[in-house]
Amino acid sequence: MIKLSREVGGQRMALWDQVGYSTNPYTVNPLAPNAEGSELIVGRDKELRRLMTQLRSTDTHPTIEGDNGSGKTSLVAVAAYRAEREYIEKKEDQLLIPISDIIQMTAGVGEFERSAYFAVAKAYLRNVEKLTEWGFVTVDTSELEKWIGAPFIYGGGAGASVAGVGGSVSRTAAANTGQGFTDAGFRQLVKDCLGTTFPTREHGAFVGVIDNIELLRTSADARQALEAVRDTVLSLPGVRWVLCGAKGIVRSVVSSPRLSGRIGRPIDLKPVPDEEVPELVRRRLARYSTRPDPDAPVDPDGFAHLYKISNANLRNSFKHAQDFAVWLDEEDKLSEPPSQKRALLEEWIDVTAAEHSAAAPLQQGQWSLFDKITDAGGTMAPGDFEAFGFNTQQAMRFHLQRLEEANLIDSVIDEEDQRRKTISVTSNGWLVAYHRAKLRA
Ligand SMILES: Nc1ncnc2c1ncn2[C@@H]1O[C@H](COP(=O)(O)OP(=O)(O)O)[C@@H](O)[C@H]1O
Ligand SMILES: [Mg+2]
Repeated sequence: MIKLSREVGGQRMALWDQVGYSTNPYTVNPLAPNAEGSELIVGRDKELRRLMTQLRSTDTHPTIEGDNGSGKTSLVAVAAYRAEREYIEKKEDQLLIPISDIIQMTAGVGEFERSAYFAVAKAYLRNVEKLTEWGFVTVDTSELEKWIGAPFIYGGGAGASVAGVGGSVSRTAAANTGQGFTDAGFRQLVKDCLGTTFPTREHGAFVGVIDNIELLRTSADARQALEAVRDTVLSLPGVRWVLCGAKGIVRSVVSSPRLSGRIGRPIDLKPVPDEEVPELVRRRLARYSTRPDPDAPVDPDGFAHLYKISNANLRNSFKHAQDFAVWLDEEDKLSEPPSQKRALLEEWIDVTAAEHSAAAPLQQGQWSLFDKITDAGGTMAPGDFEAFGFNTQQAMRFHLQRLEEANLIDSVIDEEDQRRKTISVTSNGWLVAYHRAKLRA
């Protein structure tokens, strides 16, 4: 049982409240396209500029290749938000507006298309008043609102956002059955709205994220899926998608001749540099503190340590920081003095790593392969077997499977591209690697 709150003077206090924060300062959610996200982003000035330039000056959908947890989704959100601000502040003639829903390509093509059109339709409804005010030609949205309110194609949650745009929307169950609505009708409607408001790139566009393309696993799957939506989702007027992926999948997809001219060469997103990381945490802690002397379970230095251990993965570092805070609470050590917190963090790492190791009944050969992978930086391609001391890929495969079952690595074989670095150390794996290195020293 995880205990997230306790009784203080008869009042229940959430963990974060006790230490002086209004909310979890270590949340793993991507930065949002709003003022807060823009305030919290650190170390991405160059990348933000680059992405904004691509969005404004090219006709292709930009792409970002970068490790999981390196900040791709956050980068797109903040770039789109800042681009909108620059338009409002009259620093730019061209309007870009973030689409707040993040969509992924995991479902089938039909499902993906539907979620994409929906995300765009919602963004249109949320912004139509502003657009009209700014002098854009807009479309009467009552039809669109009916669609968004229709439970058949939208599972709920649209109420609040739609209500914000001019009153409540009646959500009749029959909205798209009895009245001759078709999916094609909805798509045409979305397309018409966009084409009217943003007839050319110079007028502007909505900016959305197509996230985690690596979930499709193989480059062939990803390419096929994107080719299948080339003439629908990727051809919508007034929408710029930023395609994000890890493990080399974006680089692979970009090579498809059928997509050339539609998607841009990938921006290679490197991890936020180590020296920027303390500031990144300082901003979050400052943003959420509720009293002058908050007592962060993990301070900026402690976080920088977690960042190193987790091989520069921001999401995993935040997850560790959060797990550690919960552990402190469970151990009744939340109020230990700040000077003790660092030693406690080290204790938590050791305890957690030991648990993960014990849960992995591995043979010596498998441990030694694991050590080699972490020494090599934590990623490898299936085709690298010789460099890791195996005669065949098959021989290595067996050991990789054991490591994968132990949740120390994540492994995919891309038949088409055996050079893709699809084998990578997991979050647990990095904790274990740190622990092993300490034991070996
Ligand atoms: N440049 C940044 N500055 C501050 N926080 C960031 C930055 N980039 C990412 N984050 C945070 O790191 C975590 C992972 O970011 P995310 O954008 O989800 O990564 P990705 O999409 O590459 O997996 C999130 O909690 C996010 O808030
Ligand atoms: Mg992401």
